Amino acid sequence: MEYFTLKNGVSMPAIGFGTYKATDGDDRAVLDAARRAGYRHFDTAAFYGNEAEVGAALAASGLPRSDLFVTTKVWREDLGYDAALRSFEASSQRLGLEVIDLLLIHWPTRTPGDPDSPALCRETWRALEALYRAGRVRAIGVSNFLPHHLMHLMETAEIAPMVDQLEFHPGYPQLAALQFCQAHDIRVTAWSPLGRARMLTDPTLTEMAARYGKSPAQLCLRFALDCGVCPLPKSVSPDRIAQNLAVFDFHLSPEDLSRLACLPQIGWSGEHPDRPRLPV
Ligand code: A2P
Repeated sequence: MEYFTLKNGVSMPAIGFGTYKATDGDDRAVLDAARRAGYRHFDTAAFYGNEAEVGAALAASGLPRSDLFVTTKVWREDLGYDAALRSFEASSQRLGLEVIDLLLIHWPTRTPGDPDSPALCRETWRALEALYRAGRVRAIGVSNFLPHHLMHLMETAEIAPMVDQLEFHPGYPQLAALQFCQAHDIRVTAWSPLGRARMLTDPTLTEMAARYGKSPAQLCLRFALDCGVCPLPKSVSPDRIAQNLAVFDFHLSPEDLSRLACLPQIGWSGEHPDRPRLPV
């Protein structure tokens, strides 16, 4: 495993296991397969409804707490100072973890276009700062924040966000947001780094993957890493769970990185913080 260092010096495994819906079936088997394959970074959220399963699987693994990196998130309906603190305490209890490695604001809006959300995000951020100062979280950040959301938050923030978790994959790399984050030393982590497998059959990807002797999914994960982004792939298959970690033995050439960064839009989820979800 390789690591990224966040701006406050905290080390984060460079690939995390995405748990959204990954645990709908045999949750313990999936989480155990991920742990056995070598994942130590697990991404969950209050909204996913699986924090208790994630916490139980990690507790049963017998791994030292210091080997694990666990992220959770405050859901959009819990924006606000008090609501965010309550949300954190509930997450902490369900996970069985007194200290959480990374706590994120899940979305910058309660509902797309909600005029009260920018002010609520600032209040939520004050709660995250308080938890950080109290040592209950090792790092704090946001998710699905675009540059304008970050600019507004950072005007009043006393501690700048350390992470922004975004949808990021070939065909939807959100380069404007990535560039803003990199200019402010905010580490981007990627949800749906495989575009939910929607563009793994794209000819550019399949041709390139064959050239590198890797799968299209591995190419997407390498694309994220070579862009300085930490991917959070999901899978319920033990083989693919393991395959998705076998990406530390190659790099993409600058030309191929550009080809992937400049693909026409494919594989987008249809989610945008300022718009109602679009059908895709
Ligand atoms: P499965 O669970 O059957 O492996 P994302 O992480 O971008 O949201 O994508 C998740 C989707 O990608 C799931 O449908 C998952 O299916 C699929 N997937 C995960 N890893 C691979 C892989 N290595 N090759 C092909 N599909 C994959």
